[in-house]
Amino acid sequence: MGIVTPFYISGRPATSDDVIDIRHPYDGRLVGSTANATPEQVEAAVAAAAAVAPVAAALPASARAAALDHVSARLKERADEIAKLITAENGKPLKWSRAEVSRAVSTFRWAAEEARRFSGTVQRLDTDPIATGRLALVKRVPRGPVLGIAPFNFPLNLVAHKVAPALAVGAPIVLKPAPATPLSALVLGAILTETDLPEGMWSIVPIPNDRAAALVADPRLPVVSFTGSGPVGWQIRDAVPRKHVTLELGGNAAVVVCEDWDDLDWAASRIATFSNYQAGQSCIAVQRVYVHERHYDALADKLVTAVEGQRTGDPSDEATDVGPLISAAAAERVEAWVAEAVSAGAKLLTGGTREGAAFAPTVLAAVPVEAKVVAEEVFGPVLVLERVPSDEAGFAAVNDSRYGLQAGVFTRRLDRAFEAHRVLDVGGIIVGDVPSYRADQMPYGGAKASGVGREGLASAMADYTEERVMVLTGLQL
Ligand code: SIN
Repeated sequence: MGIVTPFYISGRPATSDDVIDIRHPYDGRLVGSTANATPEQVEAAVAAAAAVAPVAAALPASARAAALDHVSARLKERADEIAKLITAENGKPLKWSRAEVSRAVSTFRWAAEEARRFSGTVQRLDTDPIATGRLALVKRVPRGPVLGIAPFNFPLNLVAHKVAPALAVGAPIVLKPAPATPLSALVLGAILTETDLPEGMWSIVPIPNDRAAALVADPRLPVVSFTGSGPVGWQIRDAVPRKHVTLELGGNAAVVVCEDWDDLDWAASRIATFSNYQAGQSCIAVQRVYVHERHYDALADKLVTAVEGQRTGDPSDEATDVGPLISAAAAERVEAWVAEAVSAGAKLLTGGTREGAAFAPTVLAAVPVEAKVVAEEVFGPVLVLERVPSDEAGFAAVNDSRYGLQAGVFTRRLDRAFEAHRVLDVGGIIVGDVPSYRADQMPYGGAKASGVGREGLASAMADYTEERVMVLTGLQL
């Protein structure tokens, strides 16, 4: 047996006999091993988080920011090694792994900056004569230790989006990485051991998904931040209605190419790239494309050419655009959904084939709206093209979904952009580009079945805390 990468209980390396092997989704080779934390080790992590909570909340901003800056700097120093590890355990092409590491560098840097300016507000109360001489100071205090549950599709940066805001506000965190991709999170753990954060403030505990319910139910973890599938997310929220639960659950992200948009090459190239990046395994990968009838035929041709130009293959090759999905089972599900659409009358314009865990970049047209590739989250390299008679019809089609995470609107008209912002029932609108754009500091999250709450450093910090008011009296203001 090779080296078993340690996990972290209360900030200290630990291991167990329950070893798990992590295999490369591209060729099944062994990438590394770690172990599942035992129930006793998980208990120690939770107990330590609860015990350290008052100390963590009282940490000066300088200490929190210094730790976060350190993590950011070390991720940058180790970027090449970490990107290769992400590719090895997740299968995403190296260029996207490199992008993920540089985003995580920025996520921790932003957290440090937000920690420094997380100051609260002052409210004057002497607006009524009875409150003359009174002033309110409003600060935000941690709700308590956070349970973070992270998915496989961004094994570093979506872990960063749980850990960094918790540390920034002084909340302990117990982080459960995705069972398929724990190793990148454990490198983050190794870097966190280099900081002066108090013992118990963070733990990274690999456990199988069927043991997560006990952690979710634990009253010592009053905040749960979950990113993953809809059924699991809503089950968590229903199981603990009195906890503060934030859910980032994905969607079937759409693009509208409006009548005024004339740069079809740009639209085709962006849509082709971002329906296939990470083999479509992003909650904001382009899935549905609504094209004004003025452009439909021309764009469909350009799009098929651009999608066929995506280079598939070994994700370790710097030139590869599209690698495997996380597993053969995931690719088989995508294959079944495409077959379902085709047998319901959809036209397959390109793709539709599978080899092991790899699914060819696929474009479908004239797909019935009930087909899963339209109505559900594909989480694979599949896009669905639809002709619409007007921009308004395109916006209505975007909203005709139980999901609402982000949408892209190709328009140069300011009034159209504002209209989209007003009418689209989603968490974010990207004008002149695909919905897959995310800057890590901006609010990110969904409407409807796409979740509740927002990530993005300042938003998550607000989520992990609540207001506490202090009223001062007898002042001369
Ligand atoms: C996600 O898949 O929800 C995250 C997308 C991103 O961070 O770019």
